[in-house]
Amino acid sequence: MATNESGSVGKPMNRVDGRLKVTGAARYAADWPIDGLTYGVIVQSTIGSGRVASIDVSRASKARGVIGVLTHKNAQKLPDKGRAAVNPPAGRVLTLLQDDQVHYNGQPIALVVADTFEHATDAATMVAVTYEKGILAADFDAAFPSAYPLPEKPAEPGRNTRGHYVRGDVDAGLASADVRIDQTYTTPKENHNPMEPHAAIASWDGGQLTVYDTTQYVYGARDAVAKTFGMKPEDVHIISPFVGGGFGCKGSTWSHVLLAAMASQSLKRPVKIVLTRRQMFGPVGGRPQTHQRITLGAKSDGTLTAIRHVTTSHTSFIEDFLEPSGIVTRMLYAVPNLESTHRLLKLNVGTPTYQRAPGEATGTFSLEVAMDELAEKLHMDPLALRLKNYAETDPDTGRPFSSKALKECYRVGAERFGWSKRKAQAGTMRDGKAMVGYGLATATYPTYRSPATVRARLEMNGSDVRAVVQTASQDLGTGTYTIMTQIAADALGLKPSQVRFELGDSHFPKSPVSGGSMSAASTGSAVHVACTALRQKVLALAANDPSSPMHGIVATDIGVSEGRLITRSDSPATETYAEVLARQPGKAVEATESSAPGEETKQFAMHAFGAVFAEARIDSDTRTIRIPRLVGAYGVGRVLNAKLAHSQMISGMVWGISQALREETDVDPRNGRYVNADLAEYHVPVNADIHDLDVTFVDEDDPHINPIGAKGIGEIGITGVAGAIANAIYNATGVRVRHLPIRLDDLL
Ligand code: MOS
Repeated sequence: MATNESGSVGKPMNRVDGRLKVTGAARYAADWPIDGLTYGVIVQSTIGSGRVASIDVSRASKARGVIGVLTHKNAQKLPDKGRAAVNPPAGRVLTLLQDDQVHYNGQPIALVVADTFEHATDAATMVAVTYEKGILAADFDAAFPSAYPLPEKPAEPGRNTRGHYVRGDVDAGLASADVRIDQTYTTPKENHNPMEPHAAIASWDGGQLTVYDTTQYVYGARDAVAKTFGMKPEDVHIISPFVGGGFGCKGSTWSHVLLAAMASQSLKRPVKIVLTRRQMFGPVGGRPQTHQRITLGAKSDGTLTAIRHVTTSHTSFIEDFLEPSGIVTRMLYAVPNLESTHRLLKLNVGTPTYQRAPGEATGTFSLEVAMDELAEKLHMDPLALRLKNYAETDPDTGRPFSSKALKECYRVGAERFGWSKRKAQAGTMRDGKAMVGYGLATATYPTYRSPATVRARLEMNGSDVRAVVQTASQDLGTGTYTIMTQIAADALGLKPSQVRFELGDSHFPKSPVSGGSMSAASTGSAVHVACTALRQKVLALAANDPSSPMHGIVATDIGVSEGRLITRSDSPATETYAEVLARQPGKAVEATESSAPGEETKQFAMHAFGAVFAEARIDSDTRTIRIPRLVGAYGVGRVLNAKLAHSQMISGMVWGISQALREETDVDPRNGRYVNADLAEYHVPVNADIHDLDVTFVDEDDPHINPIGAKGIGEIGITGVAGAIANAIYNATGVRVRHLPIRLDDLL
């Protein structure tokens, strides 16, 4: 991407939507003032498996303010029992009051709609339900023998269906090893808890449905809703300009969105449903529990001879969803013999889903702890072991990496951290009462990209010009508005203040899901391409217009700076965008362009990499665990906004600390109930838990990856952190903990 000194890409620009957010003017899904709005509250099952034997809504229906109650008895029949939208990531298999079956504790079984949220909440307690209990499977360990492998040849493409993978001969590789590690690592169920819970307002106007949603995928929500109702996609309008955090749970359209639309249709009133914090546990996904057995073999000089990684994760009885922890193992180190298998087991819980770095967050924990165990057995420095097995080309595909700055990340990270001061013998570093340990892990996340289309218009704004740039992307709070504004400004030769970037509306051209860390790469590329095309269109208009001072100059010899056209030669000819626009019909020029991945995806392996270093301090009396500092060095291609990128990385690191030391969703095996479904009992770090987070981006110029050279940073920040912390805790204490979260009682 062309940049110049005055360019705004890369600069630590403040969020363009910051003022709207701090003044409360930013409208989130639940904030839209809709005439005649009603409030829906979901009634959830209180058993984990079976059927609703009877449901009596007579009292609830007569309660103050109640407008209607939907149950499986009176809800409209949907095509395919409401399961028509099954294509992930947006479409999920949902339970939409189409039958009496109960698949998990907390499943929606009724919806009460009233004139206020309070009335609906009150009436929801009056719905009387009896059940016939079925066989319950809510205990991961008890269900473990029932695990089934994913098919070898996936029916559909996509990494989540990539079950089984082999290269070389693992048994021969292990037999030829001098040293072997064979251990099992486990990670718990986790649940996303963005500050903004899921929320939707549905409103019908004849056959047209408008949904104010909080979603990571505007077009996905549109298609999921349309398919579920058997409607044309054009008849569904999704509006989602602000999203208060997603992290994967808002990548899919869950039942509350459809229930709001169903109720709105039958009651002929707009219906709003806002999930409570407690309802965030179960009906809207979460990270699956994993059990990962890893076998490593290596020569005495540290050269890996084989890896076997068998991942078992849970899913629901409704749908297969996989946490693909073994995917990262396939590409992280240069090992000729490798087998990675994914298996699922079914539990009576809500279907799990994508949660920040699905697969990589859990896979870089297990693999990176196993590598630490191997290093110790080899009497090798853990960093030296990783360098010994450094993959210069992608071991999975054999392709070259489009760019890979991991060696530089190791070097810079180790230096900033002071890795050379680490004592290899566990439990030998002390500082007063504190046992001190150093650990490291590798971070990585693939660079995905999907097609995106952007409409860009140059128009007058009073006496000034402005660009209005639109695409149906999403800003999860990460800064999409801001980086797209910067990219558009640079491509057009305008100041960022002259660009109005708009997203979050299905009437805009299509952008992909803001998931898989792909919005910057996908939508950013399309913004660059569309705005470049728009600039060229305006320049051509000037060059071809006899009344322009630029007439006759080759358009490619014209540049633009702050809205003024100038030639690259010595010619003094110049005019402004405003002067060109003044001569155009409608005083505006527009371009719509698409950008999609191409041949480069077949030529290169594309990943971001990083190295994470952690210091752990454990109180020798109480075993309280503190992480005084984390150092991360990352190669992520072009950094589009230094300030926002830094924020993204430290947020990932904070979540890594949380994954390592705090988070765990407890499900009661007796009834499948989510035990700690609130932020008092579901532990996340507070400010006092977070100390020094040191982030460095190493220079990485990737000419292959996409037109803007950016790799995406939404997810890599969490990867590696839990592994680095577990390794640091071992180095401090000599206690090897192979499960998450690691708590002080593990160290007693
Ligand atoms: Mo991310 S878990 O792909 O939204």
